Amino acid sequence: MDDTQSGFDPRFEDPRKLDEISRRGFLGGVVGVAGAALLATPRASRGAQTTPPPTSSPTPQPDDEPYWRWVADQFLIRENLAYMNTGTRGPSPRSVYEAQIEAIRASNVDRLSYARYVHDAEFRDGLRIKMATFLGCNPSEVAFTNNTTEGMAFGTNGPDFERGDEMICTNHDHSSGAQPVYLRAARQGLNVKMVDLAHPRFHPPRSPTDIIDAFDALITRRTKLISLCQVNYTDGCVLPVKEICELARSKGILTLVDGAHPPGMMDLDLHALGCDMYAGACHKWMMAGMLTGFFYVREALQDRIWPTIYSGPVNGLNMYGEQVNERFAARAQTAARYEMRGSGNYAAARSIDAALDFHNAITPQAIEARDRYLAARARDGLRQIGGVEIYSSDDPKSSCALVSFSVRGVGTRDLSAALWDRHQIYIRNVTHPEIHWDANRASLHLMVTSADVDLLVGGVAEIAKEAKA
Ligand SMILES: Cc1ncc(COP(=O)(O)O)c(C=O)c1O
Repeated sequence: MDDTQSGFDPRFEDPRKLDEISRRGFLGGVVGVAGAALLATPRASRGAQTTPPPTSSPTPQPDDEPYWRWVADQFLIRENLAYMNTGTRGPSPRSVYEAQIEAIRASNVDRLSYARYVHDAEFRDGLRIKMATFLGCNPSEVAFTNNTTEGMAFGTNGPDFERGDEMICTNHDHSSGAQPVYLRAARQGLNVKMVDLAHPRFHPPRSPTDIIDAFDALITRRTKLISLCQVNYTDGCVLPVKEICELARSKGILTLVDGAHPPGMMDLDLHALGCDMYAGACHKWMMAGMLTGFFYVREALQDRIWPTIYSGPVNGLNMYGEQVNERFAARAQTAARYEMRGSGNYAAARSIDAALDFHNAITPQAIEARDRYLAARARDGLRQIGGVEIYSSDDPKSSCALVSFSVRGVGTRDLSAALWDRHQIYIRNVTHPEIHWDANRASLHLMVTSADVDLLVGGVAEIAKEAKA
């Protein structure tokens, strides 16, 4: 899939072209890190303060605009750009960006191996505890990965299955979740069944029960794995994962959840969710640096999930058949074994740490409430516009911060392009003609203000009106 198909505006991703798309052209021709540093300035001119304004209560309310304005001003995003594509990439707030830059500096001024062998290993143990608290699981259940895709591959390839066994995924999965399933099936003679979440009755879903039933209908005694998203990237639907995991567990089926979107968007409790495995991203809604993610494996299951990439001890032995030291052997019994796969990135790990601090300072509960508030505001506004169809549910159980919609008579790419050209609102389209899916998608997260949402609604109204005329 190229950038055009995926709905990216490649100009936006290329710093050399920022001046081409900047209406004010304030960036001129600057490139790379120097350009990135400059990006900090314009947003600050929108009134950034170093301390948050007083909130009306200990927990900021979702509509406390001065507070959330202050939060939005923590980003480097340049002035007048309404960034609504966190679902693809979450730009880091300033504190996270700076932690990452400082870590790059630190690992270049000391002994070259220092960052990897001292900082990285020790620091990661502390980070793992912080991350586990954030996710609602034990530190021994979390491994850091480069992205969601890696975790989905670990989870799909990890367990032993036999020829003829079945795996279930959905046709609203990302290729990062579905393709490992098809690859494993092709390699080992397994069968894949696909839940048809493209059916119109799921847009929006009538009830979570309908979705559970659709999974249940495909389960047979050969089903060994259910791989599914917690939040679909297509329509933003929040699937009833807890109930599906319960169903699966009752039938001895493993569950692997694609959590590209929920971390940082939703207040997570993986133990309560009850899944066996969970692959998440830190570079989307958590807004850590690029190439950051994690893979969760439930403790009781870890000896059944083989690592796909591995350089650690095997049965406690090193490659010469000697016992490794106790600490190393013990680590290899935990999810940390999924990290035993070559060099890590200290700066990326530092950015996760800073991102966790950022989220914890605001609190995951307040962030989820704010994101839901912005999404509801967008849905409510869009609903008033003739010709707009909204695919995301109003039921909080079935939706969160991704709003999926289309405008009758306006191509989804055209809509994204027009919003960009006229208002510098950045949303994307998700288009899969194979399943008749074609929709625009707005990601509503902390860098978006209520005023930005109103701008989106106004922009869509204007375009919808022109299409009707
Ligand atoms: C649902 C879903 N799964 C997986 C991915 C891939 O994520 P990553 O880049 O973290 O591997 C994406 C990316 O957008 C996604 O939306």
